Amino acid sequence: MSNSGTAVSEVEIPKPSGLEGVVAASTALSHVFGEEGKLVYRGYDIHELAGHASFEEVAFLQWVGHLPNEAELKAFTAKLDANRTLPDELITILRQLPADTAPMDALRTGVSSLGPLLPGVFNDEPDLDEAIALAARFPSILAAFHRVRNGLEPVAHKSGHNTAQSYLYQLFGTEPEERHWKPLETYLILLTDHGMNASTFAARVIASTQSDIVSALTGAVGALKGPLHGGAPSLVLDMLNEIGTADNVDTWLNAALDRGDRLMGFGHRVYKAEDPRAEILREMARTASDPDFFELSLRTEQRALELLNERKPGRRLYTNVEFYSAAVLAAVGLPGDMFTPTFAVARSVGWSAHVLEQVANNRLIRPQSEFVGPIDLHFVDLGDR
Ligand code: ACO
Repeated sequence: MSNSGTAVSEVEIPKPSGLEGVVAASTALSHVFGEEGKLVYRGYDIHELAGHASFEEVAFLQWVGHLPNEAELKAFTAKLDANRTLPDELITILRQLPADTAPMDALRTGVSSLGPLLPGVFNDEPDLDEAIALAARFPSILAAFHRVRNGLEPVAHKSGHNTAQSYLYQLFGTEPEERHWKPLETYLILLTDHGMNASTFAARVIASTQSDIVSALTGAVGALKGPLHGGAPSLVLDMLNEIGTADNVDTWLNAALDRGDRLMGFGHRVYKAEDPRAEILREMARTASDPDFFELSLRTEQRALELLNERKPGRRLYTNVEFYSAAVLAAVGLPGDMFTPTFAVARSVGWSAHVLEQVANNRLIRPQSEFVGPIDLHFVDLGDR
C-alpha cells in the first residue's frame, strides 16, 4: 500500500486493451455503427423512432422483438401501469439514506431491495414479466428518493401516465407539461440501448451465472455510474457552469487540457464519427433549452472539437450523447445529479432485454487474464522479512 492508501502493484502491468474490439456476445437488440455514426434498434435506425414512436413502443420493441399493434400496446402499458408502485418498506429504506446520498446510489439500493421486498416476483428464470416489474419501478424509486431527500412526501404514480409523464409527475407532484415530458420521452428512447456498452456487459455477465435479474440490473446501475460511461452529463453541466460566458471558453478548455483532464461529453470507444444521439439532442436543446445556455453549449462544443483535434490528432474525438443530454435534461427541469439516474431509467429497458437474450441462449461469460506476475516465490516467515 502507498502512503495514500492506494494499492499499487510492484509488477509493471501493460496498458490494458479494455476489451476494445472484442465481440463478447451476439445480440439482435441494437448495434452501433461506429464509423458511420449510426445506431440501430432491432432493425430501426434511431431517427425512425426518436420523435415518432413512444417510449413504451420502443420498450416493447426491445423486449418482445417487434413494434406492438394497438391491442399489444394497450395490454403492455396496462402492465407497466400496474408495476409502478413501490413497497412501503422501500420508501422507508429511502428515507433512512442520508439526504446527501447520490441519487445513483439511492437507485442502486432501491433496485437491489426490490428483490426481497417483492417476494415471489423475481424467483424464476428472468422473463418479460420480471423485466417489466423491475424497469417500471426505476422512475418511481428515483422520484421517491428525490422527494424524501427534500423533506417531501412521495407522490404515487397516476394511472394513464406514460413513463416520461409518470417520472415527472412523481418527481414534482404536478401534471407535467408536454414541453417537458415530450423531450424527456425522446431522450429516453435515444438512451434505451447501445450495443455492448460497459453496464450492459456487466448485466450480461451477472445473468450468465444464472443469477437473478435484480442482481444483474443492480450491477448495471453500478457500472453506469462512472464518468467514463453514464456519469458524465452532470459533469458537462458543471463544466458549462464553470465556463459561464463565451469569452471564457478557450481559457477554460485549454487549462483543462493542459492539466490532462478529459473533456466530458467528448470521445467514445466505438463512435469514430459524431454520435447520432448527440445530433438529435442538439436539435432538441436548440428549441427546449435556455437560449443563452444553448449558445454557450454550442460555442464550447465547437472549440472543444477544434482543440481536441489539434491536441489529439488522429484520435477522432467527437461529441458524444452526454454533451447535449445536459442541456436537454436541465430544460426538462431535472437537477444535475438526476441526469445519470435518468439515463438509467432508459437503459433499464436495454439491460433487461439483454438479460432475457442472455438467458435464452446462455453460456457462462468467463474470460481469461494474461498473467504477468511472478511465479515460484517461497513464503518467508514474518520475522525474516
Ligand atoms: N478529452 C480529452 N482527451 C480524450 C477524451 C476526452 N473526452 N477522450 C479520449 N481522449 C484521448 C485520451 O486521452 C487518449 O489520448 P492518448 O492516446 O494521447 O493517451 C485517446 O483520446 C484515446 O482515449 P482512450 O481512453 O483510450 O479511449 P477510450 O475508448 O478508452 O475512451 C471514453 C472512451 C472513456 C468515452 C473517453 O473518450 C472519455 O473519457 N470521454 C470523456 C468522458 C465521457 O464523455 N463519458 C461519456 C461516454 S458516452 C457513454 O458512455 C454513454
